[in-house]
This record gives sequence, C-alpha cells and structure tokens, in this order.
Amino acid sequence: MAAEPTIIELRAAALTRLNAASDLETTRAWYRDYLGDHGAVTALTKRIASLPPEQRRAFGIAVNALKTELGATLSERQASLEASALETRIESEAIDVTLPGRPVRRGFLHPTTRIIREICDIFGKMGFQTVEGPEVEYAKYNFDMLNIPADHPARDVWDTFHVESGESEIVLRTHTSPMQVRTMLGQQPPVRVVVPGRCYRYEATDATHLAMFLQVEGLAVDEGITLADLKGTLTEFARQMFGPERKTRFRCDFFPFVEPGVDFAIDCPQCGGKGCRLCKQSGWIELLGAGMVHPRVLEMVGYDTSKYTGFAFGMGPERLMLLKYGLDDIRDFYKNDIRWLRQMDRAWL
Ligand code: DAH
Repeated sequence: MAAEPTIIELRAAALTRLNAASDLETTRAWYRDYLGDHGAVTALTKRIASLPPEQRRAFGIAVNALKTELGATLSERQASLEASALETRIESEAIDVTLPGRPVRRGFLHPTTRIIREICDIFGKMGFQTVEGPEVEYAKYNFDMLNIPADHPARDVWDTFHVESGESEIVLRTHTSPMQVRTMLGQQPPVRVVVPGRCYRYEATDATHLAMFLQVEGLAVDEGITLADLKGTLTEFARQMFGPERKTRFRCDFFPFVEPGVDFAIDCPQCGGKGCRLCKQSGWIELLGAGMVHPRVLEMVGYDTSKYTGFAFGMGPERLMLLKYGLDDIRDFYKNDIRWLRQMDRAWL
C-alpha cells in the first residue's frame, strides 16, 4: 500500500505529463497509462471494493473526482492540439496566389499543317470540299488521263519516282492533279474540291526545291463555269491569304490538262509592286498554275463536254509560306529545328 502513489501524487504526475504532451499520439499513450483498462486510475477504482467499509465512500468519491477531472482535461488538451495541428497544416498548404506562375510549354501545329488548313478553310468558305488521295499513284491518273501521254515531251517536266510493280505503271505522284481524275471518275458534276497532299519528284534538293513537297489542288466543274469564275475564286483566295489590297495578274501559261492555262500572280506584298528582293525586282509574285480543264480530260472521265466546263489550279503551300513570310530556304520546314518551328508559330499572321 505504501509503495503506491497517493491520489494527490498521481493527479500531479498525470496533469504534468498531459500538459507536456505536444501531439495527439502522446495524449493517446497518456490515456492508456491513466484512464485505460490497465491504467493507474482504473487500478485505483478496482481497489475500492477491497478497502475497509468506512474508507470506501471517501476514497470512491476522490477517485471518481480524479477520473472526471483527468477526462475533462484530456478532452481539452486534445481539442487544443487538434486545433493547432490544423492551423499548421493550413499554413503549410497555403497557396501563395501572388507568386508568378510557372509557364507550361504547349505543343503547336507544324507550319505546313497550319498553312494547309488555312488554304482549305479559305476555299471551304467558297464551297470547296477537302479530299485526299494516294501518294502512290497509277501513271494513268498521274499522266495519261491528265492529257500527258507516254510519248509526250511534257511528261519529262515531272521527274518521276517509279515504283516497281508487276502490272500497271505505278509512280509516286508528281503532283496532286491525279486527284482531279479520281474525283471526276467517282462523281458527276457539280464538283468543287481542294486536295492537299505530298508529292514527289526525283530532283536535287536546294533552297527552292525538295524531292518531297506539298501541293494543294483545286477543281470546280459545273454547267456554265468560265474563266471569270477562275479569276474571281483565285483573286478572293489571294486577298484572304495576302491582304485585301492585293492586285492580281493572270498570264497565259501551258499545262497539258488545261486550256487555256494561266499563271497567277499577285503584286508583291513586301514592296507593293515597286520591286524588292522578294519579288526579284519584278513587282510580281507568281503564286500558282491554273486553267480551264481541258475538254479531253473531261471526256476521258466520261463527262458530257457539251454541258460541263471547269477550272483547276495547283499550288505549293511551302512556297506560299516562303513568300508570305519572306523566308529564303524551303528546307527549313523539314529540319525539325524546334526553335525555327516555334518562331514560325509565333510569327503567324
Ligand atoms: N500540276 C501542276 C504542277 O505540279 C500544277 C497545276 C497547274 C495544277 C495548272 C493545275 C493546273 O490544276 O490547272 O506543276
């Protein structure tokens, strides 16, 4: 009996330890030591029954008072620790909204993708549908049905990659024009399509030539289409692309699949026609080839030439970009130099 602490000593020790507890974990351990099933205060309660009857009441009251007091103090202590833990967490997790943000590097489209979409959008608003075709093509569509027969000297203009094949002559398309044939074989007029896509020519690469490059073809066939429609359509395109103040020029040119054929130019957007490095002092920039679809081409796809006429055009989007931005090397598009590409993306008009 003498070895056990008195209620007063136990109370003092318990309160000292509880006040010193700096976290919730410690208060839980404290509970086990004093108020839990095997705790010191619980042990005192169990002793009540073994006391002489005259001491039981006073001892019982004292132990119960201690138990109540310690229980209440524990709750208070835990509540205050919880509150300060929450405060610390709020402080440490707080976001300083005044800090400058960290920039996120976003991806962007390749300039050739953007220019093609821009071109097709402009024609799209004028009623042209965008379609695509195969890069590995029958020579029949790439040449013959475009009025370029095998023995025709014009066939040499296109330096062709040939594909080995058992049967028909197959090539990598040298232009997007074969899609004129494919489109017309697949439907009756009215036709209004633009065709973006890769083309191939067996050529040495330099600042203005690539062996693989892009073209956008255009074709419109219907009743009553005239050269005036061609001029109006291309003029609208040039003004949307190079500015509403552009002057245009149409001159005779030759392509086997059109008659008449034209070369379409705009006044130089850089110098306004006065003459500069971009337009090689001529004041004009040649944008594309075009013309009225040759009646023989219409005949070969089975169109009624007494009823239908059409116009066609073909342009090189990379070349258009070089002109629009005053760039001097077409090879830059395909070097995958991310700094150059990003610069193009930022400079986009
Ligand atoms: N296919 C021609 C080339 O690659 C470009 C062209 C010229 C397309 C006149 C046309 C056109 O549709 O009418 O050089």
